[in-house]
Amino acid sequence: MPRISVLPSAVADQIAAGEVVERPASVVKELIENALDAGASSIDVAIDDGGRARIRVSDDGTGMDREDATLALSRHATSKITRASDLVGIHSFGFRGEALPAICSVAHLQIETAPADGAGTRIEASGGSVVSVADATRRRGTTVSVSSLFYNAPARLKFMRGARSEWRAIVDAITLVALARRDVRLTVTHDGAPALTLPPASSWRARVAALWGTAAAERLLDVDDVAGPIRVDGLAERPQDVGTGTRRIFLAVNGRAIRDNGLVRAAEAAYRSTIPAGLRPTLLLALTLPGGDVDVNVHPAKAEVRFRDRWPVERAVEGAVRRALGTLDAAAAIGARRWWSVPGDAASPDSEVGTDALQPTPSRGDGPLFTSPLGDAGAIGDKGALAVAAPGAVAPVADDEPVVVPALTQWRRTWISFEHEQGLVLIDQHSAHERVLFERFMGVLERGEAPAQRLLFPITLHLGPAESDAFDANRESFERLGFEVEGFGGHTLIVRAVPMPHPRFDPERCLRDTLDALTGDRVASTAARHERLAATVACKAAIKAGEQLSLDEMRALFVALARTTLPAHDVHGRATIVRIGWDELERRFGRR
Ligand SMILES: Nc1ncnc2c1ncn2[C@@H]1O[C@H](COP(=O)(O)OP(=O)(O)OP(=O)(O)O)[C@@H](O)[C@H]1O
Ligand SMILES: [Mg+2]
Repeated sequence: MPRISVLPSAVADQIAAGEVVERPASVVKELIENALDAGASSIDVAIDDGGRARIRVSDDGTGMDREDATLALSRHATSKITRASDLVGIHSFGFRGEALPAICSVAHLQIETAPADGAGTRIEASGGSVVSVADATRRRGTTVSVSSLFYNAPARLKFMRGARSEWRAIVDAITLVALARRDVRLTVTHDGAPALTLPPASSWRARVAALWGTAAAERLLDVDDVAGPIRVDGLAERPQDVGTGTRRIFLAVNGRAIRDNGLVRAAEAAYRSTIPAGLRPTLLLALTLPGGDVDVNVHPAKAEVRFRDRWPVERAVEGAVRRALGTLDAAAAIGARRWWSVPGDAASPDSEVGTDALQPTPSRGDGPLFTSPLGDAGAIGDKGALAVAAPGAVAPVADDEPVVVPALTQWRRTWISFEHEQGLVLIDQHSAHERVLFERFMGVLERGEAPAQRLLFPITLHLGPAESDAFDANRESFERLGFEVEGFGGHTLIVRAVPMPHPRFDPERCLRDTLDALTGDRVASTAARHERLAATVACKAAIKAGEQLSLDEMRALFVALARTTLPAHDVHGRATIVRIGWDELERRFGRR
């Protein structure tokens, strides 16, 4: 008697279904993806009892003729690929021909469908077998209803959660699709009551506003960047707001929502030095890259992809987010956070007419913060799509690009103000200088040496044992920064040359304070050590609050800040720039 037997196909189908249909939300996902693959521009989803009783998805896509509709329920029946090589660079969500048969094997299924120019068909099927095929009248498109999910799979049924929990999972699944395909109109009802109404949106911000409200949309910055063949666009949370609300993560690759911790980490790395360590920003990012560089067929629920070469993808993500954080829009704001104009301001999330009003055209006219919109239009154009694509890009202003300096005024020997097209802007002189020096020192530590100034009278420093150790551990770095020091291993240092970040710089105090701060420091990697040292020296070396600045000094600081990559943030996660939009002032003065 052989111990091995081939499973009956119904059993095999149920096992295969386990991979595709984990819970009601997976059914919703598969049905919506099919609708999108059929070219639908409007999709209506009706859910009963968290999907446990019924899931119905209707679309206005291509529909199917009778032959196709029947075939669609057989395993490995797909219209989307015909040979394995079609999988490379595939643009449709589906490709396995698994979803409908898998769902059908564990539920009651009804398909009503009609192609543009043909008769309609209604198919009833249950537990994997077709029960009836009949005529139906309907307009072009398809409606798939799934009821009594897992009625014949008690093991699965046991694992279904309560309606609320399943409903939440469904909303999550729909949210992913809604973000990935912002062009599509989506409505969702739960137990007959409208739950979501998403008009087609032409921008990320509009979709986010419709999903989570205008306030949520206002916390986010535009990301739009191109690195070689990779485009990254979406929204990222303004550093000021990170940690104060619900964190959301969304990633898509070529229109497909995916999970990828490596990419999330890369995006988070872009926030380094703008937010306190440990805080996690909301990130909604879509990557577009050549289909041949991505393998989508690596996960049963298609929730992960594999990149042929992961490193450039992660770099592109980090670079894109960092550039977004370098814009003036990333700066802390007083009052309304948005720095882009919204025509028809009061658009409510679910106003249908408001679709256009909801599009807050990120005004490309913002212009770089530190260059006049007139003066540098040409320069921006020359840099190509990249610069144009980043609205309100402050930086990086390339070294050879002119920085047009506006009229500057110092307040309380602490802040410098100027007028910007969009509002009043204040710079904290110490934080700003700290940011400038930090980036300069990092550059020096990673490549090259800082210019040093030879002292007429060398400084002699007597150190305690801990400070001496700190110096010995960082000796080479100090030298790169421009400190030329004699004294080996002993507790006395003779400083012969020092960096000269500004005329009132006190090198002795800086060196002492820095060594004090580095005492007992146990930072592992070289990069982290450099960052720590650069941040500490920058903090100690920067001009302080309370120092009177000449106009030339203010202008020099302004230009230097404009050339940094993250001008709006100091190195401790605090703001260097605070802005008050004109609209906010108008509001406060009752002008609007
Ligand atoms: N809403 C729909 N409108 C038009 N055709 C559809 C629709 N849903 C399914 N089909 C057709 O039925 C076929 C089978 O669908 P099914 O979801 O089972 O497989 P698939 O989408 O090709 O691949 P996958 O299993 O990866 O989703 C599709 O290839 C498509 O031709
Ligand atoms: Mg499918």
